[in-house]
Amino acid sequence: MQEPMHQENSRNVTILVTGGTGTLGRLVVARLREADRQVRVLGRTAPATGIDGVEFAAADLESGEGVEAAMAGIEVVVHCAGSGTGDEGKARRLVEAAKLAGVRHIVYISVVGADRMPVVSATDRRMFGYFAEKAGAERVITESGIPWTSLRATQFHDLVFMVAEQMAKLPVVLLPRRMRVQPVDAGEVADRLVELALGAPAGLVPDLAGPRIYDAAEVMRGYLRATGRRRPIVRIGLPGGAARAMLGGANLSPDRAVGEHTWEEFLAERVGERVVV
Ligand SMILES: NC(=O)c1ccc[n+]([C@@H]2O[C@H](COP(=O)([O-])OP(=O)(O)OC[C@H]3O[C@@H](n4cnc5c(N)ncnc54)[C@H](OP(=O)(O)O)[C@@H]3O)[C@@H](O)[C@H]2O)c1
Repeated sequence: MQEPMHQENSRNVTILVTGGTGTLGRLVVARLREADRQVRVLGRTAPATGIDGVEFAAADLESGEGVEAAMAGIEVVVHCAGSGTGDEGKARRLVEAAKLAGVRHIVYISVVGADRMPVVSATDRRMFGYFAEKAGAERVITESGIPWTSLRATQFHDLVFMVAEQMAKLPVVLLPRRMRVQPVDAGEVADRLVELALGAPAGLVPDLAGPRIYDAAEVMRGYLRATGRRRPIVRIGLPGGAARAMLGGANLSPDRAVGEHTWEEFLAERVGERVVV
């Protein structure tokens, strides 16, 4: 007799992707559709164009408005909604509604270093509060009683590119001394999240980090070269315990450099030319 199909693998289950309109969420939605899954996207702003097999549920995870309705009938959630602030609160709203709906599996995307950044002082919080919020969100999900899976990833190429773009608007680029990054491809993170969402709850799974660790100046120089800009780079010190942890490599996962798509390849695709860093 054939084994009964694991619930998560049933094609009849609609999977809720929070933040399904964002950088990562869009890629997750596309992959779930390729796997022939029905998808509901939870977000504040509906996308301009619809996708076949994807419904949109307007909801705000900060205020809680619409979250219960968006969760109705859902068994599996991939929680990609997030912002610079308030992710612990968003997770709380999500979990409250998920409990009412009888959700069987929440898959969460967190960040490498969430558990290693001592965000204690006001200075820490101003600069690195994001990491504390991600740790708080992890805790909310872990303690929810709902079976869960959490993946910590390093910074996506897209985010690093956006930050470089902002920094290059100034005549001088200021970069923290000793700052290193290990950018990862958001598509590879989406692949892994979908694999996890279609499997059984697995708890905290090994990190997903980019293939190489770079000094921040190296990454910036690659960006400047690719976009044909010239800017002097000045290194500055950062105060506080969280900064010390970050500069000591809390944001890196050298043993989990399993991403394959490099920053140089990303740059070449994004700006349409080959870059050698
Ligand atoms: N970017 C990185 O380098 C990185 C690295 C590791 C982990 N992560 C995590 O990965 C997740 C996705 O990141 P991303 O770069 O794809 O972010 P993003 O492009 O900024 O997308 C964020 C998504 O969250 C939704 N959202 C934000 N606030 C919301 C709210 N109050 N209620 C409902 N939806 C809300 C946004 O849609 P609306 O604005 O329409 O609501 C959007 O769809 C985040 O949790 C982030 O912390 C990111």
